[in-house]
Amino acid sequence: MPNVVVVGTQWGDEGKGKVVDLYAENADVVARFQGGNNAGHTLVVDGKKTVLHLIPSGILHNNKICIIGNGVVIDPDILIQEIESLHSRGLFPSNTKLYISENAHVIMPYHKRIDTAREGLKKIGTTGRGIGPAYEDKVSRQGIRVSDILDEAIFREKLQRRLKETNFMLTQYFHEEPLNEEEILERYLGYAKYFKPYVADTSLIMAKEMRMGKKILFEGAQGSHLDIDHGTYPYVTSSNTVSGNASCGTGVGPLAIHAVIGICKAYTTRVGEGPFPTELNDEFGEQMQVIGNEFGATTGRKRRCGWLDLVLVRQSMRVSGITGLALTKLDVLRGIEKIKICVAYNLRGEEFTESLPSRPDLLAQCEPVYEEMDGWTEDITTARTIDDLPKNARRYVERLEILANAPCVIISVDASREGTIVMKNPFERS
Ligand code: IMP
Repeated sequence: MPNVVVVGTQWGDEGKGKVVDLYAENADVVARFQGGNNAGHTLVVDGKKTVLHLIPSGILHNNKICIIGNGVVIDPDILIQEIESLHSRGLFPSNTKLYISENAHVIMPYHKRIDTAREGLKKIGTTGRGIGPAYEDKVSRQGIRVSDILDEAIFREKLQRRLKETNFMLTQYFHEEPLNEEEILERYLGYAKYFKPYVADTSLIMAKEMRMGKKILFEGAQGSHLDIDHGTYPYVTSSNTVSGNASCGTGVGPLAIHAVIGICKAYTTRVGEGPFPTELNDEFGEQMQVIGNEFGATTGRKRRCGWLDLVLVRQSMRVSGITGLALTKLDVLRGIEKIKICVAYNLRGEEFTESLPSRPDLLAQCEPVYEEMDGWTEDITTARTIDDLPKNARRYVERLEILANAPCVIISVDASREGTIVMKNPFERS
């Protein structure tokens, strides 16, 4: 049975939540594989808006298994709030199950403190949620995993050891107050009690489901250019956001993956610091920001906006092995007379067409090379087939397909589930 990965092709906020929610209808299992509550996936169902930070976007569907994989870092407080809020709004179907990997790492209070304290020294524009420091502890083998907090003695010992170093760093280096061991212990043991029924060997659950012929949807967070290896380092997040991590971050072999859908917004946005070659500081950028409601779903920060950048998208196509594109927010470009698409960068005479310069100082010096296309004035939010789109909007889509060398499988023309043109369903093998 086809298993599908959904990833972002830009700097996150491409509209993955909506696409994952749509695809969840076809899947039996929906799994998050990286990131944490730095992500914010916005879903609009029956006019009701839900923002999910940790729980896979499949949760709003009946009879699904939702997995928070080993590659995710979990802020327990946020996860509990999310579960409780879904229950209280009647949005957690009783026949849908949520499992949390016992190997996922837990975000601790010191991670958040260090994250924000570090921003004072070098600005990356992080979400301040402790994501980076939590992944640092994982890699330096000092992390606390979900399974650890379930055992008081083990948790106490690990926390004691870790606090010795972090309190030294907080007080001596950042000149902040130390954290109290007993307070953290008590709080997190309470979380452990709450989570116990959800904790499982999620890799095994997924393997058993696949043996029964069930279909899996892997839900990426952030975007390709925020990837710790392939992104615009150091202005990146701390996990691998590309499709390869769907395998690692859930414990499912790579051959189980059959299709990779890259979500591509019809223009480009970025939150936080870092170079952005097609950034606009004019009326068009303003239109994208206002009409596209480009405010961070997690931090509320204004997103920086710019023209669609095919150099970015082509690099993502390559590193994630993307088989189809989902084009989102096409409606936002309505009324722009001449729409630009960046097809290359010029860096002092050198041309970049499918790969970004590795160094941020060089990327900042790149001059975008644009193609110009005629825009459209019609409202396209009610389009349900490609033929419903005005000629110039169709031409924009066709040009993207040629430039990216991949078919568009979905075009989103409105935030709602209905506002979608579906060209091909990746869960149906052709
Ligand atoms: P962190 O993930 O909080 O460490 O932030 C690192 C960088 O990634 C910052 O520029 C953030 O704004 C950006 N970032 C993290 N998560 C998201 C997301 O879900 N969408 C867009 N940008 C994000």
